[in-house]
Amino acid sequence: MGQKHRIYITRKIDEQFLVPLADIADISMWESKSEPVPREILIEKAQEVDALFTVLSDKIDEEVLAAGPSLKIVANLAVGFDNIDLTAAKKHDVIVTNTPDVLSETTADLTWALLMATARRIVEASDYLRAGKWQDWSPFLLAGTDVYQKKIGIVGMGRIGSAVAKRAKGFDMDIMYHNRSRNQAAEEAYGAAYVSFDELIETADYIVSLVPLTNETAEIFNEAAFAKMKSSAIFVNVSRGAVVDETALYNALKNKTIAAAGLDVFAKEPLPLDHPFLKLDNAVLIPHIGSASIETRTTMIELCLQNIANVLTGKEALTEVKG
Ligand code: DGY
Repeated sequence: MGQKHRIYITRKIDEQFLVPLADIADISMWESKSEPVPREILIEKAQEVDALFTVLSDKIDEEVLAAGPSLKIVANLAVGFDNIDLTAAKKHDVIVTNTPDVLSETTADLTWALLMATARRIVEASDYLRAGKWQDWSPFLLAGTDVYQKKIGIVGMGRIGSAVAKRAKGFDMDIMYHNRSRNQAAEEAYGAAYVSFDELIETADYIVSLVPLTNETAEIFNEAAFAKMKSSAIFVNVSRGAVVDETALYNALKNKTIAAAGLDVFAKEPLPLDHPFLKLDNAVLIPHIGSASIETRTTMIELCLQNIANVLTGKEALTEVKG
């Protein structure tokens, strides 16, 4: 048997995942489950290996992609791939893969949980009880806003958007969406109406961002967009923080231009503890856990490793990102 392939994984994962690749590869891993791999180690490893297994906080740019002559694949543990320079990957003949489909329902569940938590003030209510402030029952104590039969506007009607629309149908909501192209399947299955971005933000009660981060979508939710929303609107972002101008969102929440926001993603992650968002009562903030169920993260890891195994053994990747 010839020389084994070399794989580097930028976060510690359980050894059991590596068993299927043991015969074909020598695998090394960054030793932490939560701390990011230091940049210099990432580059050093990229020089040595045939495959990199990366996560969304690893910046895979020209420097990393040019580092090693044998690098053939970067398998990213996310559906989003805005952390990877696809032009540089193409230039250096490196295949990039992501994890679409397998996380759609789980991410839609989280989107729904965040929307409901924001509408019904669940986090605030829990904090209230734990702080010993619950003295008596009163009619409007922590009263939120209804979700059922309201208007939801989904920006980005891909697989996750469709799974959110499916949930919204169950809540008898009026569903609108905006997308680069029409999604006939979602229109037929969930009665989702295609509308312009402006119509969506002006009329929706719930505005849900599931749009990938690209040059076109960077800061589409800006001061002008928040100004067009209803003062009762609730904004939910489960895509990428950089699709939002965060100063504009902070001002919109503080000045009650909009009612509330549920945010899973931020321009800078982890969110710094001195970030102004943390001072707001009308923002529900969670640490980028869209696809974080045990089942789905397990499947995502297996898919990344299968993509790596395929490419290293001369087969086609299952989920290649076409630039
Ligand atoms: C993704 O897969 O891009 C998500 O943001 C991870 O939760």
